[in-house]
Amino acid sequence: MGLQSLTHLIGDYGRNKGDDPTMKYVVIVAHPNPDSFTQSVCHTAVQALEASGHEVKLRDLYKIGFNPLLSVDDFKNSKSGEISEDVKTEQQHIAWADALIVIYPLWWASLPAILKGYVDRVFSYGFAYSMDGNGLQKLLSGKSAVLFTTMGNTEEHYNNVGMFEAMRKTVDEGIFDFVGIKVLEHKYLTSVTTVDNATREQMLEEVKSVLAKQKM
Ligand SMILES: Cc1cc2nc3c(=O)[nH]c(=O)nc-3n(C[C@H](O)[C@H](O)[C@H](O)COP(=O)(O)O)c2cc1C
Repeated sequence: MGLQSLTHLIGDYGRNKGDDPTMKYVVIVAHPNPDSFTQSVCHTAVQALEASGHEVKLRDLYKIGFNPLLSVDDFKNSKSGEISEDVKTEQQHIAWADALIVIYPLWWASLPAILKGYVDRVFSYGFAYSMDGNGLQKLLSGKSAVLFTTMGNTEEHYNNVGMFEAMRKTVDEGIFDFVGIKVLEHKYLTSVTTVDNATREQMLEEVKSVLAKQKM
C-alpha cells in the first residue's frame, strides 16, 4: 500500500463523530507472562471498554510474536511505500482506532524492547509522520491515547529524582505527541512488586476509573 492510500485510510477511520458515544480502541499490551499484574491491567481495561459498548481490538505483542527488529528492508520500505505485511497489519489496526490504550511494565525506566520495536517499525515515516516544506506532519493527529505503566519503584522516589518528568518527555511527547496522538493520561501503577493483593485490586479499580473519565 502506498503512502497516499495509507493517509487516506487514516482519514476514513478518524475519530467518531455525531451522537454515537462508542469508539474504536486498540489495546496494545507488552508483557510475556499471561498471569502477570500487567496482563491483569490489560484484561481489566478490555473488559471495562467492552462493557461500555466500545469496539476493542487487542494487540498482545508477545502473544502475536511481533518482531520488534527494525530491518534494512523496513528502511527501504518506508521510502518506497511497500510495507512489510506484519507492519501493515498493525498500521491498519491503528488507522482503524480512535484511541490507543497502551499497557506495559517499566523496564529500565523505559518501554520493554518489544514495545519500543513496535513503535520503531509501526510508527514509520509516511504512516505516522512525514516531513514536507512546512516541516513535521503529524499523521496520526485526531487520535488519543491512555497509557498504563506498572513499575517497582515508589511514586515518591520517582518524583524526587524527576523520572516521571523525564518519561513524560521521552514517551508521551517524544513518541505519541510527535505523531499527533494526544496522551490524555499516563497512569503509573507504582510499587506493584511490593504491595499486597488488596492494593493491586484497588489499582485495577483505578484503571476502570481512569478509562471511564476520559473524553477521547
Ligand atoms: C528488565 C526489568 C527492568 C525493570 N526496570 C525497572 C525500572 O527501571 N523502574 C522500576 O520502577 N521498575 C523496574 N522493573 C520492575 C517492573 O516494572 C515490575 O516488575 C513490573 O512493573 C511488575 O509488573 P508485573 O508483575 O506485571 O511484571 C523492572 C523489571 C524488569 C524485569
